[in-house]
Amino acid sequence: MKPLSVMLSMLAIGITSSAVMAEGVNLPNASLPNASLPNVSPANSELVNRGAYIARAADCMACHGEDYTGGTAIETPMGEIYSTNITPSKRYGIGDYTEADLKNALQKGRAPDHMLYPAMPYPSYSGMKEEDISALFAYLQTVPAVDEAPEEKTDLPFPFNIRSLMLGWNFLNVPSTEKRDGLNETQKRGEYLVNNLEHCGTCHTPRNSTMGFDKSMYLSGAQLGNWHAPNITPDESSGIGSWSEQDIVTYLRTGELDQRAYAGGPMGEAVAHSTRYLKNEDLSAIASYLKAVPAVQTEDTVSAVDVSRLPTPINESITHDLLAQKEYLAQAKAEVSNGNNSPKALYLAACGSCHGVNGYAQPDARYAPIVGLSSVRRDKPDALVNMILHGVESATNTSPIMPGFSDELNSEQIAGITNYVRVNFGGLASSDVSAGDVDRIANTSVDKPFLIKYAGLLAIIGIIVAIAIIAFIIRAIFRSRRRA
Ligand code: HEC
Ligand code: HEC
Ligand code: HEC
Repeated sequence: MKPLSVMLSMLAIGITSSAVMAEGVNLPNASLPNASLPNVSPANSELVNRGAYIARAADCMACHGEDYTGGTAIETPMGEIYSTNITPSKRYGIGDYTEADLKNALQKGRAPDHMLYPAMPYPSYSGMKEEDISALFAYLQTVPAVDEAPEEKTDLPFPFNIRSLMLGWNFLNVPSTEKRDGLNETQKRGEYLVNNLEHCGTCHTPRNSTMGFDKSMYLSGAQLGNWHAPNITPDESSGIGSWSEQDIVTYLRTGELDQRAYAGGPMGEAVAHSTRYLKNEDLSAIASYLKAVPAVQTEDTVSAVDVSRLPTPINESITHDLLAQKEYLAQAKAEVSNGNNSPKALYLAACGSCHGVNGYAQPDARYAPIVGLSSVRRDKPDALVNMILHGVESATNTSPIMPGFSDELNSEQIAGITNYVRVNFGGLASSDVSAGDVDRIANTSVDKPFLIKYAGLLAIIGIIVAIAIIAFIIRAIFRSRRRA
């Protein structure tokens, strides 16, 4: 299993993917225009090509796979929900779907013979435009049919296996967003992309007690299993208020913002499958809209980049001379195995071979430079500690993946490395993460919202109450008859 972490809709939890793209994808440079769209060709009708673009912009591939055969597990507090085959296979896919069926699935979460779980982001797609659904339908007919069911099938425990319960959930939580007043045309396009196609809020908006969006905290950040999707409202201290619109465009196009931010894990997936393919005007519309949403201040504050505190790639010979670097790192490793537990030696031994002696990574290799990244500048160390504990993996990366270190390093050592990285590469004035903090973060299981945690119990109580009420009514009827 490949810890992947796409996003999920009702279930604010990370995800594990069994069948997402195995091969890495090279990201284009910031200066390059959008990556050319696979599946778009002059041989296709204009409608089909438009549909291919909608599929990208709505990121169907993040869950259904680049070949649309499904099988991605979306981990939820209620159990794993698997995406399905949506190729035109009559037997295993959606070959029998009419356009109206697709519309119902996307907008209402209703497949022809069952209700869907909101792991399929229909609460967002509910606002999809008719013409976009028509184009998507035309395009999906042209995808090669694959006559195979995904290996795994969704099998949730009672009461969640009663799919019609979703009717009640939908009543409370669909649509997941409302249109904002006072937007200009560009921002309206951005709103449509963010809310209805890209469904950014499925990861970036926290959930309420019923697992629907907490609308008052729109886009202000949420925990996805071991990943944290940060606050992307324009708040200066905890959001992306300091980013220019161009910064947002560059990040969504390339997955990187030099010495500022990196798109790892689930965000890397969103960039790799979707945003890097968007037209410039659409990325600009998203950026313009993100600047127009209400700023929400959260606890997850992030220090501004203090360039003066960041390392300069001082030791050119070590940064650029691989052999010298190798020797230097080997020396650190030897020191660590001789019991040197200094944070610097630990960093060099555990991280230096990929991220470089001073955090600028290996020139020309596709490791992430980590100098100045928001993930090493946050006041809460949780996201960074989770990355060190569990590793970082995403489709945007073609170099050896970053392993998790929870087995290899103890909490004391991880705390030391965390402090070293935050101060030396994040530019923080100080950092005092302790072994106890690392233990707390490692042991925090994501809290399930009340209704989900106790739904089994509530459902049983509900049934008992319902039986009691029916019994009471029957008795009352009998009594009144007897009296009559
Ligand atoms: C975040 C993950 C995710 C994304 C993104 C997503 N889906 Fe789904 N989809 C699922 C899951 C999971 C299911 C199965 C849900 C269930 O079992 O109730 C599903 C089910 C479906 C179904 C119902 C198939 C059937 O069983 O009859 C259709 C149709 C569908 N998706 C189409 C799409 C299209 C088109 C897109 C892009 C516009 C898309 N999905 C994007 C996760 C996703
Ligand atoms: C599948 C879940 C998911 C989806 C969908 C998603 N994001 Fe993210 N996003 C994340 C995660 C997780 C991070 C943190 C990445 C990291 O630190 O490596 C992130 C990071 C970001 C950042 C960087 C913030 C910072 O302070 O560093 C921005 C900006 C952003 N996302 C915008 C968006 C936009 C706009 C969309 C919709 C087009 C979107 N995201 C969709 C999960 C997601
Ligand atoms: C085997 C190479 C390798 C090692 C060893 C390694 N990393 Fe990484 N690291 C990566 C790669 C590759 C990425 C980018 C991941 C991606 O996009 O899939 C990354 C990403 C990161 C990020 C950025 C995450 C984000 O999304 O903001 C941080 C921070 C980081 N690593 C810190 C560390 C620390 C600290 C250590 C040592 C405990 C370490 N890494 C060890 C390869 C490595």
